[in-house]
Amino acid sequence: MPSLAVTLGPLRAKNPVFSASGTFGYGEEMEPFLNPGVYGGIIGKSISIKPRGGNPTPRVVETASGMLNSIGLQNPGFDAFLRDYLPRMRGYGTLLVVNLVGDTVDEYVEMARRLEEVEGGEAVDALELNISCPNCPQGGMEFGIDPKATRLLVERVRAASRKPILAKLTPNVTDIVSIARAAEDGGADVLTLTNTFVGMAIDWRKRQAILPARTGGLSGPAIKPLSLRLVWQVARGCNIPVMGIGGIMNADDVMDFLVAGARAVQIGTVQFVRPRAVLEILEDLHRFLEEEGLDSIEQVVGTIK
Ligand SMILES: Cc1cc2nc3c(=O)[nH]c(=O)nc-3n(C[C@H](O)[C@H](O)[C@H](O)COP(=O)(O)O)c2cc1C
Repeated sequence: MPSLAVTLGPLRAKNPVFSASGTFGYGEEMEPFLNPGVYGGIIGKSISIKPRGGNPTPRVVETASGMLNSIGLQNPGFDAFLRDYLPRMRGYGTLLVVNLVGDTVDEYVEMARRLEEVEGGEAVDALELNISCPNCPQGGMEFGIDPKATRLLVERVRAASRKPILAKLTPNVTDIVSIARAAEDGGADVLTLTNTFVGMAIDWRKRQAILPARTGGLSGPAIKPLSLRLVWQVARGCNIPVMGIGGIMNADDVMDFLVAGARAVQIGTVQFVRPRAVLEILEDLHRFLEEEGLDSIEQVVGTIK
């Protein structure tokens, strides 16, 4: 059977399909549907130092080929995460990535430092820094739209943690390669892209934006060509591994991202439509490798002509 295993800098994943932050809870939401251990890795919803209640409802709108959300990073906060969620996530038997978000650099650093103290630093496999949330006045995208702020943040977290660092980039910039290089220079091990694209939905009869926050983040099939282009550019322009995210609905989409240069992918919105999508995707990836006569999925990475 061909191998789906991939290396991502210092990480070894049994397959290239990770669950994207915010679309999977902390694993417990998926348990009725499948064993969260089947993913190459799981990434929890963004955690902040203090609990956040999130934005007013409605927080989600369906749009043509996509979904607009403005959750506002609702989460139980760092202490409750450590106590109530992390132990369960550790039992899933796959790579465990904790996604962190902060209003200030110090908040990211504090969470990274405190994770080093849990179980001698062995409680998690990697940190993903959300520097790309479009739904927060501060601390989300503010870092990820500026190369200097990106580099400083990654450097400071790097100094506080021995864990591999994934920097999650926003697509809402004019030159993503400059931000990606700044994260690389700051010491990131992996670049993950993209987060959602800022968008808007209007109920014209009411003359109102549908989301109380007015704008939201667009995800789903609508963004796949946009994310794919950014992943291709960043993979060519940087030296560290890239994880592709954006509108992946099936195994063909995964292969497109790998051929563009991603070494692994994350799936998000598809899980609201088909919670067991990862199982179909993994089966189809095996079949594709057999059809292509390949031993390893890594042989596909970056093969675009
Ligand atoms: C409802 C929802 C909540 C999300 N929450 C987070 C979050 O807390 N942190 C984060 O880094 N990304 C978050 N994202 C972004 C996803 O992780 C992913 O980058 C994005 O949805 C694009 O992938 P997709 O098209 O496969 O969904 C969220 C996305 C959705 C749809």
